Amino acid sequence: MNQHERTFVVNAGRGPHGPNQPVNVPVDFTSTYSYRPGVHAAKDYAREGMPSWEPLEELLAQLEAGTRTTSQSQGLITTAEEHPVQVLPGLLFSSGMAAISAVVHLLPLGSHLIMPRHSYMGFSALAQQMADQGLLTLHRVDIADTEQVTSTLHDVSTLASAQDASVMLWVESPTNPMLEIADLPAVLSAAKKRGVLTAVDNTFATPLRQRPLLHGADVVVHSVTKFLSGHSDLIMGVAITGDPEIHARLHQHRTLHGAIPGPMEVFLALRGVRTLAVRLDASESSAGELARRLDELSQDAGLPLRKVNYPGLAAHPQHQRAAEQLGGFGAILTIELDADQPDPANPAGPAEASRPAEQPDPAGDLRAAGAPETGRRISNQRSEAEVADAVLSALTLWTPATSLGGVESLAERRRRHPGEPASVPDGLIRLSVGIEDVEDLFADLLNALRTAATGEPIR
Ligand SMILES: Cc1ncc(COP(=O)(O)O)c(C=O)c1O
Repeated sequence: MNQHERTFVVNAGRGPHGPNQPVNVPVDFTSTYSYRPGVHAAKDYAREGMPSWEPLEELLAQLEAGTRTTSQSQGLITTAEEHPVQVLPGLLFSSGMAAISAVVHLLPLGSHLIMPRHSYMGFSALAQQMADQGLLTLHRVDIADTEQVTSTLHDVSTLASAQDASVMLWVESPTNPMLEIADLPAVLSAAKKRGVLTAVDNTFATPLRQRPLLHGADVVVHSVTKFLSGHSDLIMGVAITGDPEIHARLHQHRTLHGAIPGPMEVFLALRGVRTLAVRLDASESSAGELARRLDELSQDAGLPLRKVNYPGLAAHPQHQRAAEQLGGFGAILTIELDADQPDPANPAGPAEASRPAEQPDPAGDLRAAGAPETGRRISNQRSEAEVADAVLSALTLWTPATSLGGVESLAERRRRHPGEPASVPDGLIRLSVGIEDVEDLFADLLNALRTAATGEPIR
């Protein structure tokens, strides 16, 4: 039966249950399977694969393929009729980075990797490390600038063919954390025309909002840690492809490098995916509402909020593209905080002016002790990073933490990581919107912004 997406995801691709079947997928807690000489062994050592992984590996591939038909079949997955592409069961890895690493290692020594200048910093660091080791040459592009991507594809593939080298285009869209949107069909087809291997990190959009394989991507990767599992309680990755040779090589990489998930994590991730549709709808609707309200607040001169970035806002540079390409604008937004503005009447700041010269700066002591900074009444004007940290310190419902895509709302100043490039504003906070009531989420943010502006909580 052809089901609606919400139904399909809840049923996790399972067919009707017969009598006396467990409603949930049984989990094998075993490292190995017995064999009998002379009898075909379908299962062997668990590093090569486990039956308990298969429902999740099939489901994730079915979602990327846009399948809506439940089936018990294994192997090739039928895609949505309008996009007849072949998709094979996904390959689970112990983390998103393990899946990413396996995909990048498809490239032979001396290859070229074209990648977004803004992309998940772990991937960026891995690519940089491989380049520093002389394994590949990196070409960083503005992935939202289609002309730049296509001309880089032209230049790099011309160079690579003279060197008899391979090329891979890595796409992240929306990008982490800048939320830039690539023209996915355009860049993937330009790469395909030049015989360039393409990989898309679909973590932010999820297969419920974007299906890169249907636009011709060779491989899709996810940090299952995020929206797919959805509860911030495990780390996992997946790589999905329809190419049997790539599939076999990724499988071999996983077996040899050993970055496999544990059975309990797979059970939890499958349980998480079954609520993906409702979680995503709820988070995305709140993200849109928060983006709209915060955007209005950014006009308020009394608040240190400079800018709101969200693909759903008309002011987003790729808003139109996002509206046409994505099934929704997603559950992540970012806000940019302003540094304190100097007071023209008192450039040193009010506290500085009123404090006797011999007294130590109390705010300075607090800062040295690592205490949260509050308000604009400290002696020195705060940098945008300090203002952003003051906002984070004043939050009570949102949790300041890295990661995203869980049921609970998280906030993080990205430049606290040295790996985040300088083109990401120092005062940028990434907001991962959970499924709490949007009014509570907004009230907490508003209070934190006011606290950071004035030093006085307003409840
Ligand atoms: C877009 C994106 N891809 C990949 C990863 C890496 O995933 P993991 O942390 O599961 O290794 C992350 C982690 O934050 C991410 O945000």
